[in-house]
Order: sequence, then structure tokens, then C-alpha cells
Amino acid sequence: MEKKAETLTAAKRAAGYRAAEMVEEGMVVGLGTGSTVYFTIERLSERVRDGLRIAAIPTSFQTALRAKEAHIPLTTLDDNPVIDIAIDGADEVDPKLRLIKGRGAAHLREKCVAAAAKHFVVVVDEQKMVKKLGVAAVPVEVLPFAITPVLGQLSGLGCVPIVREAVKKDGPVITDNGNFVVDCRFREIKNPEKLEAVLASIPGIIESGLFCGFTKKTTVIIGGLKKVKIISSADIVA
Ligand code: A5P
Repeated sequence: MEKKAETLTAAKRAAGYRAAEMVEEGMVVGLGTGSTVYFTIERLSERVRDGLRIAAIPTSFQTALRAKEAHIPLTTLDDNPVIDIAIDGADEVDPKLRLIKGRGAAHLREKCVAAAAKHFVVVVDEQKMVKKLGVAAVPVEVLPFAITPVLGQLSGLGCVPIVREAVKKDGPVITDNGNFVVDCRFREIKNPEKLEAVLASIPGIIESGLFCGFTKKTTVIIGGLKKVKIISSADIVA
């Protein structure tokens, strides 16, 4: 068991570090959230210490705190509405480079940052690569005011919506934006683009964790024990 965890950590480190090497002098960098981007932050911290000058936009309080500890200068979307490269993790990646994100409830800011980025680099271990999206639940950020009608609408779409419970707090998870997260497990996601659009059209849903609109500018770095594999939109088989 311990060996398996070590292997997974090594894969995440390999992917996270490789992405950090793509960052160049003077870039504005979108910094995603989670245990794989953790290693990107670690490597970027070393590069900044060695003289690399960058400004990073964090996608969560977690990443902002980690980046501050790592002495990575921070900026905002207000000051830098165009980002050179955004680096982020994912829960699932399909062969068309469509994603499910949001295990850490940061997908709203992550999608804003991905949308503003010229290049979107996704760092994952091999387990995240799937033939079809949907083994993971699709997280949806919901305005608390509208939670009851939204749960009704989500059930009508054929999923089992579950309000995410906090671990070290009683009651629901409250996102960095003050909202709830509902995890939606669909039996099958036939058309991810359509589902993303339908979810976006429901009043009270602020953002879903389906990321289907960035595939053309996406590069996926898949960490393994011995090697790192890199795929981009040019590798997508229609
Ligand atoms: C944060 O809400 C998520 O979108 C993460 O980026 C995603 O869950 C990947 O996280 P890990 O790298 O920790 O698996």
C-alpha cells in the first residue's frame, strides 16, 4: 500500500515538475489547485529562487498560501487579464482532452484562469486518463440561495446530486467563493459539451467541473514512474 502511494506521488511529482519547466522568464502563470500542482509550485519556487521572474495567479486560497510560502510573486486577473500559461490538475482526462475537475472545489476559479490563458497545461498521473468521462462525479458550484431548485433540476438530468460535506467542519463545504458544491454522478455522460452547456444554463449553478472548451490550447502531461508522456490537441483522434 505504502509502495503504491509512493509511486503515485512520484508520478505526480514528475508531471508537476515537467510543467514547471515550461514556464519562461517574464510569464504570467495561472496556478491551479491540488496535489499535482503542489509539485509545480515546489519546482517553480526553486526556479524563482534561482532568478526566474514570473507573476502567478492562484486559483484558490490553498494555492495562494502555498505560493506565498514558496516566495512566488502573486498577481490578479484584474492586473493581468491575459495569462501566458495556466498549469492545473484534473480528476479525469478523456482522449479528446476534455476534463472533469473540482475534487478540491476550486473549479470555478480554475475555469476563469484556464479561459484567460493562452496555453493550458494539465498535469496528471496515468490513473486520471479515461476512455470516457464520468466515473468521477461532476462537481457543480451552486449559490446556496438556490440549492433546493437546483437539486431538483439536477435530479431531472438523470444524476444523483449530493451536497458535498466538509470534513473538519459540520455541514456543507463552502467554497472560496462562499457557495456550496454538489457532486453529480451520472450513469453515463454521452455528450460532455452538451452537459456542460445544460449545467451552465441552470439559474443558481455558477460553474461545473466539466472543462470541454479548452482542448485546442491544452497540453496534458502524464506522469509515470519511468517517463513522462505529453499529449496535445494535435494528438486528438477525431
Ligand atoms: C481542484 O478543485 C481540482 O480541480 C484539482 O485541480 C483536481 O482535482 C486535481 O487534483 P489532484 O492533482 O490533487 O488530483
